[in-house]
Amino acid sequence: MKLMIMGPPGAGKGTQAEQIVKELKITHISTGDMFRAAIKAGTEMGKKAKEYMDKGQLVPDEVVVGMVKERLSQSDCANGFLLDGFPRTVAQADSLSKILDQLGIKFDGVINIEVPRERLMARLTGRRVCKGCGASYHVIFNAPKKEGVCNTCGGELYQRSDDNEATVSNRLDVYEGQTQPLIDYYKERGLLLNINGDQDIKLVLKDVMAALKK
Ligand code: AP5
Ligand code: MG
Ligand code: ZN
Repeated sequence: MKLMIMGPPGAGKGTQAEQIVKELKITHISTGDMFRAAIKAGTEMGKKAKEYMDKGQLVPDEVVVGMVKERLSQSDCANGFLLDGFPRTVAQADSLSKILDQLGIKFDGVINIEVPRERLMARLTGRRVCKGCGASYHVIFNAPKKEGVCNTCGGELYQRSDDNEATVSNRLDVYEGQTQPLIDYYKERGLLLNINGDQDIKLVLKDVMAALKK
């Protein structure tokens, strides 16, 4: 299946994506993860992206679109993929639709994880991420078995530099201004699957899988 998962920062896109791609045997494409990998590798693109990410702003469309186009052309996307965190603007959504046309790919659906804004700050400031495999944990809501250590790969857990209160608050404003319009965009195109993300992680996954089967 060719899918996209959207929702505000902290909605649980990454958490759900991890499980969805396992169940469906498709490729996870997170633009946020790709930028963080570029920052770690010290590339020019990574340096540029970091300036925006640390302020909670969006990286310019042309940078993101070029990166995604290249990624979607790779062979591991042929059997299906789940885009996470892309597109985030109407311009990006229009570009994606052109790219998919060019590659002859038909898009199957957009999973929209809904969570009220007042829940998101606590989710993000308590998040811890694995340095090894990128898995997302939470100090209270999804604690690892051993503090500071990943359950699956034993990697060290760290806090993302954009998970502080000031940056999170900007990210939430940017989401409401620039990304939320995509909900109507995909609804009009008959692709939107609304999922209640304000429930236990396992129940969210159950609802996602049920919605995809329909
Ligand atoms: P990105 O990495 O995509 O960040 P984001 O959209 O802000 O989303 P998050 O990754 O913070 O949240 P998530 O929904 O994945 O939540 P998670 O599952 O981890 O982007 C980062 C930056 O990169 C952007 O700000 C921008 O600068 C740049 N960027 C990326 N893509 C771009 C694009 N297309 N265009 C331009 N710029 C771009 O869960 C969060 C926490 O909640 C975890 O601790 C988790 O354990 C917990 N949790 C999850 N589900 C539940 C639940 N059901 N109940 C309780 N807790 C839960
Ligand atoms: Mg994420
Ligand atoms: Zn790990």
